[in-house]
Amino acid sequence: MTRTVYVNGEYLPETEAKVSIFDRGFLMADGVYEVTSVLGGKLVDFDGHAVRLERSLGELDMGSPISKEDLLDVHRELVRVNEIEEGMVYLQITRGAPDDRDFVFPDPDTTPQTVVLFTQNKPGLADSPAAKKGMKVISIEDIRWGRRDIKTVQLLYPSMGKMMAKKAGADDAWMTQDGFVTEGTSNNAYIVKGNKIITRALSNDILHGITRAAVLRFAQEAQMEVEERNFTIEEAREADEAFITSASTFVMPVVEIDGATLGDGTPGRVAPRLREIYLDESIKAAI
Ligand code: PDD
Repeated sequence: MTRTVYVNGEYLPETEAKVSIFDRGFLMADGVYEVTSVLGGKLVDFDGHAVRLERSLGELDMGSPISKEDLLDVHRELVRVNEIEEGMVYLQITRGAPDDRDFVFPDPDTTPQTVVLFTQNKPGLADSPAAKKGMKVISIEDIRWGRRDIKTVQLLYPSMGKMMAKKAGADDAWMTQDGFVTEGTSNNAYIVKGNKIITRALSNDILHGITRAAVLRFAQEAQMEVEERNFTIEEAREADEAFITSASTFVMPVVEIDGATLGDGTPGRVAPRLREIYLDESIKAAI
């Protein structure tokens, strides 16, 4: 089935959708994005993603080219026409395409922003076999820029990190800065010690995950202790459990870090329970 995508106000077959070669997203990575998951044909935490999008745009002095209500309509229409039961809606907004390449930002009055949305169909996303098996991560140095709280489309280093993991026979990489784990290449990182969940506190060093916020809330409601603080790879290698969160993986157990097996090498007690709670609650609240 040819996907229907959205480009600047139009719904088009993916083969007919076009963006200018002068688009600043293409030339300068001058754009932001969001990924919202779809469960049961409905959007998970749309509000959270819309609020973060607004913040990312504001931090880069970009306006909001589309209202939250219209954005919701576009998300829903793409889910409907592409018949997505489980999957993702990807959204990207750039500073647009001026007449020529220039480092200076174009005048927003004459250069409209580019708005692109497309869906990814992922049947079986919630009932993922990977979640039952758990994943392996390696650690790499975090050499990204200093505003990781803004969800920009500068995804080269995360891509390189995933390739380094693949080459090492692992599934993903956790990044470290000054010896402490920042986050995964496209997810937030956690370790578990006893009944305590430990994850880095929010700052400009990491993306403020929408899944993170929900999972920490559910953990506290389930009487689990949450500690927001730095941790090292050495501490992680000796933890009882570890996991990641993101809109595309929900809660995913980690069973190996830099070759060290956690527990008995299978997902423990806390991460699978949090995944279950997260999925149940998200499906209930999806719109
Ligand atoms: N990635 N940290 C980074 C660096 C991310 O790229 C992401 C999301 C997260 C988790 O954020 P959230 O829970 O809001 O998805 C943390 C998306 C899924 C991606 O790039 O595909």
